[in-house]
Amino acid sequence: MGSWRIWAVVAAVMLLELQVVVDAQLRYGYYDGVCPGVEDRVRTLTRRSFVADATASAAMLRLAFHDCQVGTGGCDASIMMDGNGGEMSSDNNFGVKRLDIINSIKSDMEDMCPTTVSCADIIAMAGREAVAFNGGPDIQIPLGRKDIDFSSASEADAKLPPATSSVDRMLSVFGAFGMTAEESVAILGAHTIGGGHCKNIQDRLKFNSPSAPDSLLFRTQLMSACAVNVFNVAVLNNDATQFTFDNQYFRDIQNGRGLFTVDNLVSTDPRTAPIVQLYASNEGAFFASFQSAYVKLTSRALTGNRGSVRSSCQQ
Ligand code: HEM
Repeated sequence: MGSWRIWAVVAAVMLLELQVVVDAQLRYGYYDGVCPGVEDRVRTLTRRSFVADATASAAMLRLAFHDCQVGTGGCDASIMMDGNGGEMSSDNNFGVKRLDIINSIKSDMEDMCPTTVSCADIIAMAGREAVAFNGGPDIQIPLGRKDIDFSSASEADAKLPPATSSVDRMLSVFGAFGMTAEESVAILGAHTIGGGHCKNIQDRLKFNSPSAPDSLLFRTQLMSACAVNVFNVAVLNNDATQFTFDNQYFRDIQNGRGLFTVDNLVSTDPRTAPIVQLYASNEGAFFASFQSAYVKLTSRALTGNRGSVRSSCQQ
């Protein structure tokens, strides 16, 4: 073969590889050509469910984190797979709820454009809608995630950080998404909305607990809220403005009013305390870091030929 032919083959292979790489990436406006209007429709449907249930938006934001943190594909809708032994049977997913919202949006999408919009994209979009709905930034995210057909409780046990996580663990969890310390503290600021169950703060209420809240008043408030906790249903606010995505969370944790051990530790650790101070006094800085952090959180994904678009999120 002449040398020009060899070069032509090499160039063709390189082009093909480039094409695969391009195809295999998440893209802004991914559905524009194949199913126009998807993002608007998801916004309408999520907002409808957030209006009907005031706790649903926080649930969607937490769901996005738990989906992206577990599963070989990252944000791969593995959390949605029904069945014993799946992620939802892990104790670390205690309190994760309203998966029905994702299932119902999915069935709407199937009517619009069959087997085109992945469950993983719907979850990532629902999480960002939760932020905007509550007054936070309107985050643009690239799309094109694929779903996986595998879900494992033991993986969720191992990978989801517990309420008692150290700052080291928190930084390593978010560092694995490529987040800086600023972004890691910002993404934990998702705790500006929603709440948590007493079960997750019991350790802080024990006599002589090393992680007890510094504020005696706050500790007493937590103890009395959890004193009667039949069937584990009592829920405490994550911050003083649990329905507003703002920087109140950072002021609260600075004042010793962080709900979980991890929130409390982040406010005092020398690596993270200055960042908490920045966000407590500058909401714009928090929003800017949260946006880039959310894009990183939701960008660990299967794309191209890896994974598929399921027709039902549950199987
Ligand atoms: C080290 C990291 C994290 C830990 C240890 C942690 C832990 C927790 C715990 C224990 C709860 C309470 C669950 C319950 O009792 O029902 C919770 C709630 C919540 N988490 Fe996190 N979390 C972390 C990071 C994140 C991230 C990255 C996000 C989202 C981007 C997030 C969003 C939420 C939201 C919105 C709630 C409230 C859920 C609701 O009200 O239904 N968390 N988190």
